[in-house]
Amino acid sequence: MNSKKVYIVSGAGLSAESGIKTFRDSDGLWENYSIEEVCSTAGWAKDRQKVTNFYDDRRADLESKEPNYAHIRLAELKAKYPNNITILTQNVDNMLEKAGCDEVVHLHGTLTDLRCERCKFVFPIGYKKQKGAVCPKCDSTLIRHNVVMFGEPAPAYAHLRKLYNEAEMIVVIGTSGNVIDTAYMAQLVDNSVLNNLHVDVNHDQYFSVKLYLPATEAIDEIYRLVEEFLD
Ligand code: APR
Repeated sequence: MNSKKVYIVSGAGLSAESGIKTFRDSDGLWENYSIEEVCSTAGWAKDRQKVTNFYDDRRADLESKEPNYAHIRLAELKAKYPNNITILTQNVDNMLEKAGCDEVVHLHGTLTDLRCERCKFVFPIGYKKQKGAVCPKCDSTLIRHNVVMFGEPAPAYAHLRKLYNEAEMIVVIGTSGNVIDTAYMAQLVDNSVLNNLHVDVNHDQYFSVKLYLPATEAIDEIYRLVEEFLD
């Protein structure tokens, strides 16, 4: 059995064509909110309700969104090579799951779940607002969003250590590399593919293949490159 390991790491750009705002693009989320006020532990301590409203709004917005062609092709690729491909995403949306993708690792948490602040239990909420939620495990009403904020640990980052140790091909789709160091990942392997819309020379220089296209237009080439590497 082919034991080669391919890691596909995605960010907000993968879901942009599904109508889900990115963070740092010109019309992105940070145009209307500051990272500090709604995505940091300081902002959470200052105004829990504002942060909860922010995630309630993003969660409600998700209900009408559909996976795009890039999500669908990634789900197909993962299904074809379940033991070779690991899908890591910084996205907190459920588009890959809606596209039928198994075992998606959400490095920054998930919008469609809540977390108990007392026992840490994570449970599904779908697209509903958080108000009135009670922990199914310990009955606490001290509940929060299940999205990682700046200033707190991201437990799923343990998967990054596995990537550093075993990845032989890295595919990066739709991320500026501002938070997780995708430029560093590209330096670890001989086969690295980047798909972004905007050129960032400092970040992009380490990638052997660069596709400056919308993800839905780049994904078939990405699929072919991964197949070529694995077959
Ligand atoms: N197809 C491909 N790439 C795209 C598309 C598209 N249709 N649209 C935008 N992009 C690219 C942009 O060129 C940019 O490089 O997606 C990237 C989006 O970058 P960011 O908005 O910074 O999003 P991301 O990299 O996912 O942010 C990382 O920062 O705010 C925190 O926790 C949050 O997970 C997030 C992390």
